[in-house]
Amino acid sequence: MERKIKVRVPATSANLGPGFDSIGLALQLYNELTLSVAAGPEPAVEITGEGSSLLPRDGSHLSLKAADALFQAAGLTPPPWKLLQHNRIPPASGLGSSAAAIVGGLFAASAFLPEQPSRERLLELAIALEGHPDNVAPALFGGMLICGRKGGRWRTHRILPSEKLQLQVALPDFPFPTDEARRVLPEQIMRDDAVFNLGRTAALTAALLTGDEEPLSWAVDDRLHQPYRLPLIPGAEAALAAARTAGAGAAALSGAGPSIIAFWFERGSSDPRGESIAAALRGAFAGAGIGCRIISTTTDHCGAARII
Ligand code: HSE
Repeated sequence: MERKIKVRVPATSANLGPGFDSIGLALQLYNELTLSVAAGPEPAVEITGEGSSLLPRDGSHLSLKAADALFQAAGLTPPPWKLLQHNRIPPASGLGSSAAAIVGGLFAASAFLPEQPSRERLLELAIALEGHPDNVAPALFGGMLICGRKGGRWRTHRILPSEKLQLQVALPDFPFPTDEARRVLPEQIMRDDAVFNLGRTAALTAALLTGDEEPLSWAVDDRLHQPYRLPLIPGAEAALAAARTAGAGAAALSGAGPSIIAFWFERGSSDPRGESIAAALRGAFAGAGIGCRIISTTTDHCGAARII
């Protein structure tokens, strides 16, 4: 009988303001991948859902490249894969769609190896493929991941934010691919800017852990990436301000953008802020002539998981 492994992988929001390339949060929005060995000699790929018309149907699909890399790293020849993928994470949106593809491919393919690699091993491979850790780490582990490199090895610390954390993501109808968004960043930064971000990253982490909304008002400010990216996304600066005015504790670019993520801590079942924040985000992008979708979500605690 054909062996099939089905996995789901969460969307992720990286940076969260000041934590450029260092922190990321897994979200309750999932892509599903089913991996098996193809009947013929060539890979077979079927994709449904978000961005399905944009993605490759051959071995250049990121999930299959990741699956092949895993086998090659284990000294094995990968089989021709058959991949069925259902996407809920919009591509190039700042919600970690490429990280989900990489982690999904690695995680599903690992079930075909004679010896199961650890998630830490999968993380090393995922970061090598993605180039930075702050989407692939939460996609793999769930929760909020703080990432750093020491002694030639990636280290992560996982925390679970307060259960009161509520998130709304505005996805503007505006393409802003990550490679383009990285090209606009300076190679070097000033000490004042590093200090500005250091305190904020610590305050943000503490606020997310404790559910204390007061520090959010300043803790998501950033001087390392947002000042260079926001002016390139019509409506984005207005959306950050509008979300705050409508009651969000904070709002930041999600990953490299173009999405904006707004967050706040729910104050009981009658907390009405969700609808007003959504309307404010929509209105701000509409003011710049850009349509947008809103996704209401919260933290995923599981990361990549096998579902069949
Ligand atoms: N930390 C990365 C960046 C995330 O900001 O470029 C990309 O999603």
